Amino acid sequence: MDEQKPTISVGLQGVYITETKICKVDGNVGRLYYRGYAIDALAKNSNYEEVAYLLIYGNLPKAAELEAFRQQLKEERDLPDFITDIIAKNAEKADPMDILRTCVSALSMSDSYAADQSEAANFKKAIRLISKISSIVATIGRCRDGGDYVEPNKSLGHTENFIYMLKGRDPTPQELKPVEMMYILQAEHSSNASTFSTLVTGSTLADIYSAVTAGIATLKGPLHGGADEEALRMMYAIGDPSNTEQYIEDALAGKKKIMGFGHRVYKAYDPRAKIIKEYLLSIQNNSSDEVAGLTEIALRAEKLMVDKLGQSRGIWPNVDFFAGPVYRSAGIEIELFTPLFAASRIAGWCAHMIEYWRDNKLIRPLEYYTGGLDLNYIPIANR
Ligand SMILES: CC(C)(COP(=O)(O)OP(=O)(O)OC[C@H]1O[C@@H](n2cnc3c(N)ncnc32)[C@H](O)[C@@H]1OP(=O)(O)O)[C@@H](O)C(=O)NCCC(=O)NCCS
Repeated sequence: MDEQKPTISVGLQGVYITETKICKVDGNVGRLYYRGYAIDALAKNSNYEEVAYLLIYGNLPKAAELEAFRQQLKEERDLPDFITDIIAKNAEKADPMDILRTCVSALSMSDSYAADQSEAANFKKAIRLISKISSIVATIGRCRDGGDYVEPNKSLGHTENFIYMLKGRDPTPQELKPVEMMYILQAEHSSNASTFSTLVTGSTLADIYSAVTAGIATLKGPLHGGADEEALRMMYAIGDPSNTEQYIEDALAGKKKIMGFGHRVYKAYDPRAKIIKEYLLSIQNNSSDEVAGLTEIALRAEKLMVDKLGQSRGIWPNVDFFAGPVYRSAGIEIELFTPLFAASRIAGWCAHMIEYWRDNKLIRPLEYYTGGLDLNYIPIANR
C-alpha cells in the first residue's frame, strides 16, 4: 500500500527545532530581543563587546567582567603567519568570503584546544573566534587595497581596532559609529540559515571551528548575508535617483526580487532596518555626494516598495537594505559587507552552539521520496 504523503515544510518554514533563551524575533510586530533586551535599547546604549558577552554568557556583564572579556579579546587579536599568508596571497583575486571561510577553517589547526569539547574550552574558542575573525576581515580588506597586515592595536576597543587594522590608522567618529552600530545589529538573529547550518554541523559533535565554517559558507549566499551587497549594487545600477521608481517597477514586472526586502520571519518592518534608516537620515546633510545619492535612491525605493508590497504582501525592508549606504559612509568597500556580517554574527553562532551542546541532539530531518523503486539494474553495455 502507498505510504501516506506527510506534510512537508518546504525550507523548514514554520518548523521549531529547539528551545532557546538567546534571541526572540517577533516577526508580526517587528520586534527583536537579544537575551530579553530590545535591539533598540542595545543599539542606543551598548557596544559590541558587551553585546557579545550578553549573547554568549546570557547576562549583561558587570564592569570588571566586561573589562576581563575585553582583555581576552585583545589578547586574541593577532593573526598567525599562515593566516596572513593565505590572505596576502589571495586577497586581490579571490572572493573575500572564500578567504574568510578558509582562514576560519585553518585556524583550528593552530588551536591546541580545537578538539576539547568542554564548555570552558568552547567559551575560550568563542572568544578566539570573535576576536580573530574581525582581524581576518580587516586584513582581507587591507590586502585587497594592496596594503600589508597591520598588527592589532591592543589599546583600542574591538570595532576601533577593526578599522585600525583595515585602514592603518585610528578611526574617525564618522567611521566608528556606523561600524559599531552594524556590529550590534547583526550579532544575532535566532535560527536563520547560517545559524541553523552551524547547529547542524555542531550537532554531530564536530568542533566549533567546523560549525562556524559551515555558518560562514551559508552566510555567503545572496538570499542571506549577501543581500546587502546586492542591494547596494542595485542602487549603483539605478545611478540617478530619478531612475529609481522606473527601475523598481521594471524589476517587479520582470518578477525579480528586490534585494534587502522581504523576510522569512518579519511580516512587519524589520526593527534593525528602522535603526539603520534613522542613522542614515541623521547624517544625510553631512554626507559625501556618493552617500547622499545612495540615500535618496534608498528612500525612494523604500517608499515605492512599502506602498506596493508592505501592508498588502508583508514585504518590508530588512536589515540589508540600508546597510550599503551606511557602510559606504564609513568608507567600507562593498565586497567586505558580508565578511563584516560574519565578524559580527560570530557572537550569535557561538552562543547558539554552546547552548545547543548543553542538550545536544543530532539534527537529522526527513525527505519524502518520490522516485522509483526496485528498478531493474541494466549492465552498462546494455543501457
Ligand atoms: C528573504 C527571503 C528569501 C524570504 O523569502 P521566503 O519566505 O522564502 O519567501 P519567498 O521567497 O518564497 O517569497 C514569497 C513571495 O514574496 C515575493 N517576495 C519576497 N521577497 C521579495 C522581494 N525582496 N522582492 C520582491 N518580491 C519578493 C516572492 O516573489 C514571492 O512571491 P509569489 O508568492 O508571488 O511567488 C525573500 O524575501 C528574498 O529573497 N528577499 C531578498 C533577499 C534578501 O533581502 N535577503 C536578506 C534576508 S535578511
